[in-house]
Amino acid sequence: MPTLAIKGGEKTCNVEWPTWPIWDDRERQGLMAVLESGKWWYGDQVRAFEEKYAAFQGARYGVTATSGTTILEATLTALGIGPGDEVIVPPYTFVATASAVLRNGAIPIFADIQAHTLCIDPDDVARKITPRTKAIIPVHLGGYVADMDRLCEIAGAHHLCVVEDACHSWGSQWKGKGTGALGNGGVFSFQMSKNITSGEGGIMLTDDEGLADECRSFTNVGRHKDGAWYQHFKVGSNLRLTEFQAALLLAQLSRLEAHTLKRQANAEIITQGLRDLPGIIPIENDPRITRRGYHFYSFRLDLNQLGVTRDRFVEALTAEGVPAVVGYTTPLYKNPVFESMSADPDFRPYLGDRVDYRQVQCPTCEQICADTCWIFHTILLADEPAMHQVVAAVHKVCENVSELR
Ligand SMILES: Cc1ncc(COP(=O)(O)O)c(C=O)c1O
Repeated sequence: MPTLAIKGGEKTCNVEWPTWPIWDDRERQGLMAVLESGKWWYGDQVRAFEEKYAAFQGARYGVTATSGTTILEATLTALGIGPGDEVIVPPYTFVATASAVLRNGAIPIFADIQAHTLCIDPDDVARKITPRTKAIIPVHLGGYVADMDRLCEIAGAHHLCVVEDACHSWGSQWKGKGTGALGNGGVFSFQMSKNITSGEGGIMLTDDEGLADECRSFTNVGRHKDGAWYQHFKVGSNLRLTEFQAALLLAQLSRLEAHTLKRQANAEIITQGLRDLPGIIPIENDPRITRRGYHFYSFRLDLNQLGVTRDRFVEALTAEGVPAVVGYTTPLYKNPVFESMSADPDFRPYLGDRVDYRQVQCPTCEQICADTCWIFHTILLADEPAMHQVVAAVHKVCENVSELR
C-alpha cells in the first residue's frame, strides 16, 4: 500500500490556505474615497503612504514609483551609475536586480551566494571588486537580510554605494533597523504577489535627502521640487504612482505589522519541526535579523541522502496538501538574455574582455537552484495547527522517499 499522496495514499494536510491578496472595507473605503474626490493623480494619498511606509521601515524619505523594477532603475540613475561602471549583484534573484544595472548602461557582475543564507556572499563580493566597481546590490532573499555589516564595511573601504534590493523584505530588520535604509537606499515592490500590494508599485527608501530628491526628479520627468511645472532639469521619466494605488497601500500597510509577526512566528514552528529531520536543511536566521518579513519560507534538501530530485520532492509535498514551489531554477547569468548578449558581436565590446556571462560560475548558487524549495508567505498566514501539518507533510515525504525513486 502506498503511503505518499502522490502515489495514492492519504493526503496529510486538508487546510484551506489563505488566498492573496487579503483585503476588506479598508481597501474598499480608501478606493471609494479617492474615486469620489476626483483627485486621482499623485497627491495626498501617495505622500501619506510614502511617509508612513518610510517610518515603518525606520527611514527618513520614501519615493514611490510604478514598480520595484522602475524604482531600482531610477535609484541607480540617481546615484550616477552609468556606462563603464560595474555593479555587483547576486545571481539568485529576480531579473530586475541585474537588468536595472544594464538599463543604466552599467555592467552587472555576479558574486556567489552563501548556502546558509541564500544571500550574496560578502567574501565573493570583495573578490569581484575592480577599479570600475561603483555599487553592490544585496538582495534580502525571501526577507532574509543579507550580511549588511560586512557589505557596508566592504563598500565603505572601496567607496561603493550599497543599494538594497529589499523587494522581498517588508518589515525585516537588521539589528533593530528596517531594511531599505541600511545602505544608501533600498527598494521594495508592491506587485500583486508581494506581502503588501497595490497590483503594481514600488518605493525607494533612504536617509539621504539628496538621493531622495534626485530619485523623485527622475520619477517625475526631471522636474525639481523648487522648479516650475514646465521646467525639466534632467532626462527623467514618468513613474508616478496613482492615488488609487496609494489608497490600497495605506490599507494594506495597516495589516503589515500583524501579518509580519504572524508569518515569523509560524516560520519558527516550521524550522523547529524540520531542524533535526534527516534530508532537510533549514535556513536558520542570523540572530542579527531582529525581525524577518517572510516573502517565502525556504529550506534545502540533502539530495544525496534523499536520492530524489528537488522537483520530485516538491511534487510529492504539494500532493500532501502543502503548496511548495521550486523557486529560481537557474542562476540569473544562465538566463538567455545574459548568454545571448555575451555571444552578440555588437554587444561584446561593451562588456569588455573580462565579462562573458557564458563563463560565469557561482557554484553555490547552482547547487541552491537544484536543491531548494519555497513555501509562499500566504501559507504562513494560516493558523498554528496548520504549521504542524506542514511539518508533518515534510516528515512524511522524507520518511517515505523511497516511494519516489
Ligand atoms: C528580488 C526582486 N527584485 C526586484 C523585483 C521587481 O519588482 P516589480 O515586480 O515590482 O517590478 C522583484 C519582483 O518580483 C523581486 O523579486
